[in-house]
Amino acid sequence: MQTRTLGDGVEIPVVGLGTWSVFDVGPDQQPMADRVVAAVLEAGGRLFDSSPMYGRAEAVLAAALGDRRDEAFVATKIWTGSVAEGRRQFARQLHWFGGRVDLEQVHNLVAWREQLHWMEAERDAGRIGLLGATHYSPRAFGELAEVMRSGRIQAIQVPYNPDEREVEAEILPLAAELGLGVLVMRPLGSGGLGAGPPAAELRALGVETWAEAVLVWILSDPRVTAVIPATRDPAHAAANARAGDHPGFGPDERRRVEALWRQR
Ligand SMILES: NC(=O)c1ccc[n+]([C@@H]2O[C@H](COP(=O)([O-])OP(=O)(O)OC[C@H]3O[C@@H](n4cnc5c(N)ncnc54)[C@H](OP(=O)(O)O)[C@@H]3O)[C@@H](O)[C@H]2O)c1
Repeated sequence: MQTRTLGDGVEIPVVGLGTWSVFDVGPDQQPMADRVVAAVLEAGGRLFDSSPMYGRAEAVLAAALGDRRDEAFVATKIWTGSVAEGRRQFARQLHWFGGRVDLEQVHNLVAWREQLHWMEAERDAGRIGLLGATHYSPRAFGELAEVMRSGRIQAIQVPYNPDEREVEAEILPLAAELGLGVLVMRPLGSGGLGAGPPAAELRALGVETWAEAVLVWILSDPRVTAVIPATRDPAHAAANARAGDHPGFGPDERRRVEALWRQR
């Protein structure tokens, strides 16, 4: 799988795994998570994204990684207005993820100035690799740009797919200018893929599945570092990873995917 640089020279494979909703499950569903994580690692993926907002997802991800933790690049988040609670969230993450979080993100920019203050100290102490910030809403992109310009983070996480292109206006150009990594949430429209086009259309694009076509559409934007599609299906995880081997679409193929998306 191809890799790209996520700030400070860290190379990561371009297709990872999101865990919102899909890993917020009870012990009976742990074998599902184990299979999905194994499929991602088997396909060459390393990036796993989670958050305290996602219920049991962090613990389920940690259990699924097990003794393969060192093969993973764990991106998770701090999501609270309270510094004391933020530190408790971080302490649980250290317990789950072997004493280190590879990318710690301020979720939805909640209390970002206060949280980044102690997160920077944890990074300097080596318990956090990189710092980041996320937001799902274009209404917050002005504030996100402010955090980006602060010089205090190395990566952002934002939505981007043929339906959600607001990041193209300011956020992606700014990330490129500042050399920040960009993780793409909701790459498959949070499950709004629809039936997708006929097989012949996919073959013409050099892909096997509609999900792969959409992921390649995103990764064809060189300002993107990685996509983090969520899934409960190991076969989907393996299929999504194929997008990381594709050479990328040119402008005409990209426009074709946008047209197919509108018809889906
Ligand atoms: N920071 C934030 O505010 C924020 C907000 C939203 C999301 N995120 C992060 O971004 C990640 C991804 O976003 P998301 O979970 O909203 O949605 P997504 O990845 O765009 O879509 C996930 C859905 O797509 C389906 N899917 C995955 N692979 C597929 C395939 N090959 N073929 C058909 N269907 C497929 C999954 O169902 P199956 O289980 O059937 O495969 C699941 O229902 C999240 O999990 C989370 O880590 C962050």
